[in-house]
Amino acid sequence: MKSRTVAYIVLAVTIVFAIAPTYRGQIELPVRVHHLLHAMVLVLAAFTGLLFARSAAPAKGSRAFWLIVTIVAPMLAMFLMWPSNYSPLDRLPAAHTAEHLGLALLGFLTAYAGQQYATGVGVAMSLSLWAMAFLAAWGFGVSPPLQVQTAAAAPTAAAAANAGTAPDPHHGQAVFSQNCASCHGAQGQGGMGPRLIGESSRKDLMQAEAWIENPQPPMPKLYPGTLSAQDVRDVAAYVETLK
Ligand code: HEC
Repeated sequence: MKSRTVAYIVLAVTIVFAIAPTYRGQIELPVRVHHLLHAMVLVLAAFTGLLFARSAAPAKGSRAFWLIVTIVAPMLAMFLMWPSNYSPLDRLPAAHTAEHLGLALLGFLTAYAGQQYATGVGVAMSLSLWAMAFLAAWGFGVSPPLQVQTAAAAPTAAAAANAGTAPDPHHGQAVFSQNCASCHGAQGQGGMGPRLIGESSRKDLMQAEAWIENPQPPMPKLYPGTLSAQDVRDVAAYVETLK
């Protein structure tokens, strides 16, 4: 078989592999497995690049150009594999597929441009790109975010971590009557402080908590002196329910 033919076959496999998120949807994968799948895309794409380079006409264009591509493409590929990109990208199969296709393109370019620069360079660069992707799966160079779970797994972990501290709006109502009603009104209708009815349209729960912990004067700072962290969560949750 001609190497061009093999190249097209490998290219087809790479693309089927890369667009998997589009037809499989979001799949829950640990970051490590995810890295290894990305390494696979890179290996396949780099292999395609090598095969194309083999049957390509002798290098056209300046060698400096090919050298720059050989160096920049693998760097961009590593950026695309930043673990914190995974959760946001995974939620959108189209974005995830685009990321894979980007990786495939960069893997291809690394190998093809390397070979155009000088025979053997593309092989060496592909191997080092692949080695980096493979090592990244074990945390090399990216260790802290290795604990980052994929989008689907995260809520469960977060829920478990927060189990004891889920906000309780009923308790929040009591905190509110004691500490806030004097300024914001018994029902949050407002007074010396602004009306808090419909507050959820201005601040979400996180923002309300942040505000209560660090308010602007004249609203007094009651945390951590008067209110505990749990009180803040509860009263923020209560304020969010005011309609
Ligand atoms: C001494 C009066 C006073 C007390 C007590 C007080 N606040 Fe306020 N609060 C204010 C004032 C005044 C503002 C507006 C400050 C500003 O916008 O710069 C405000 C703003 C807010 C806001 C932001 C409203 C917005 O624009 O989104 C929230 C939420 C809030 N208070 C909640 C609370 C909660 C909960 C408590 C009780 C733990 C509390 N406040 C106690 C006076 C008070």
